[in-house]
Amino acid sequence: MRKFWLAAGCLLVAAAGVAGSLVERVPATAADSSNPLEGSERARRAGAKLYVRECAACHGLNREGTGKAPPLGLAEVYKAPPGVLFWILRNGSLHRGMPSFAHLPEPERWQIVEFLRRSTGPGNAGAGHPNR
Ligand code: HEC
Repeated sequence: MRKFWLAAGCLLVAAAGVAGSLVERVPATAADSSNPLEGSERARRAGAKLYVRECAACHGLNREGTGKAPPLGLAEVYKAPPGVLFWILRNGSLHRGMPSFAHLPEPERWQIVEFLRRSTGPGNAGAGHPNR
């Protein structure tokens, strides 16, 4: 009987692990780190360029999403705490197709976070116009 409950518990944990979007699955403690570049327009623009280079192939030039990856112009993304987005860039979601970007220097990852957080709605933040 004990074994049964153990197995049932494992199943529940596994089910919780696949429920919801990636933003919702990030460990709560990730929200504790704040973005050292928060509010910097220069960082946002640098982040837009990095986005086009590193992310657009999967998430779409205007964050509209593609068959490969979900859209990123959603409130759940731009309202997510910076530390949560940073966690996603560091760890990815490897078994579900989101790579880790831990190879990028930390400041570049924060630039991308700044870009994502200040890009509300689809296509209005210049992701497709990296020189803006
Ligand atoms: C190879 C394709 C691919 C690339 C390149 C990629 N992603 Fe993703 N991304 C995904 C997939 C697939 C998911 C969904 C993963 C999941 O649900 O666990 C995802 C999820 C996300 C999420 C969570 C969205 C949500 O609603 O929970 C964020 C944020 C994100 N990606 C940001 C980025 C950023 C920023 C870049 C560029 C630095 C990037 N991704 C590059 C495939 C990709």
